[in-house]
Amino acid sequence: MVYHTSNEEHSIDIVNIALLEHQVKARMETGAFGYIYGGAEDEITMRDNTLSFNRKKIVPRVLQGIDSADLTTNLWDISLKTPIIQAPSAAHGLAHNKGEVDTAKGVAAAGSIFSISTYANTTIEDAAAAAPNAPYFFQLYMSKDDGFNQFIIDKAVKAGAKAIILTVDSTLGGYREQDIINHFQFPLPMPNLTAYSHSGDGKGQGISAIYAAAKQGIVPSDIQKIKQLAKRPVIVKGIQSPVDAAIAITAGADGIWISNHGGRQLDGGPAAPPRLMFCQVLPLLWQNAYPLYLIAAFAVVNMCLKHLLAVLI
Ligand SMILES: Cc1cc2nc3c(=O)[nH]c(=O)nc-3n(C[C@H](O)[C@H](O)[C@H](O)COP(=O)(O)O)c2cc1C
Repeated sequence: MVYHTSNEEHSIDIVNIALLEHQVKARMETGAFGYIYGGAEDEITMRDNTLSFNRKKIVPRVLQGIDSADLTTNLWDISLKTPIIQAPSAAHGLAHNKGEVDTAKGVAAAGSIFSISTYANTTIEDAAAAAPNAPYFFQLYMSKDDGFNQFIIDKAVKAGAKAIILTVDSTLGGYREQDIINHFQFPLPMPNLTAYSHSGDGKGQGISAIYAAAKQGIVPSDIQKIKQLAKRPVIVKGIQSPVDAAIAITAGADGIWISNHGGRQLDGGPAAPPRLMFCQVLPLLWQNAYPLYLIAAFAVVNMCLKHLLAVLI
């Protein structure tokens, strides 16, 4: 069956994310929309992520003499126009035929960092070439096959990845009911898998089959292993417990990405960001001079602010 992805190019007015979701839903195939939009099981964690931000309130300050805010910052040696960087997400080709190529261009124009997923519909090289000189990170779903890990990290490093994001919270595909109802299978190839001859390209496979090749038993020493392969900073993504944060930092992680994966693969965890977690982890981050960043597919700007306040207050 042929998958109909969009090839349209025109500007769109975005009033808010809820309206944009409606517009997208009306134009996209049901299965693809369900994959992008849907969460795991009863989607309680997914909904709580938004609700917990909505419940946080911000007292506006006035009389501070600020006429324009300066959001520029640095992450390691990377200059950014904003402290918000883009979260890795698989299969951008579902939304547009230019896939990650155009996302990379958009993120570069925003002065931020693009994170390309192992399960992208564009090769690492093509996404990197789309925005020359723009910084980007490569997100790794570690494989059971060390040959694949070496191969894909070599590709990412050669194409200029500034850091590796090692995702540790989705070693299995979740019970995603929308995908089950829609019989969703990835309709487009994942060329970063194809490039390694021992693996399939992902096309025609469900999320569980794709994740089956991933390493389930990730241990702290894997962080060093990836650091040695990449000779780049490694950010461990998908930390929710302060205990895991301490383990990752002690094992040499250069960054930890506090996340429940948007509640997409596992339901029942606390909404991000659990404040207690930050309170317990902050001294360790401080000790190790970790910068704090907002990394996400946040819906609205004030959520970003609330995220930061949840860390600081
Ligand atoms: C359609 C979609 C695909 C995603 N694919 C990936 C992926 O390939 N790798 C990954 O680490 N995270 C993936 N994520 C999760 C996001 O990186 C991120 O964790 C999630 O949107 C929630 O934001 P948070 O981590 O700031 O809480 C995906 C998210 C979405 C919406």
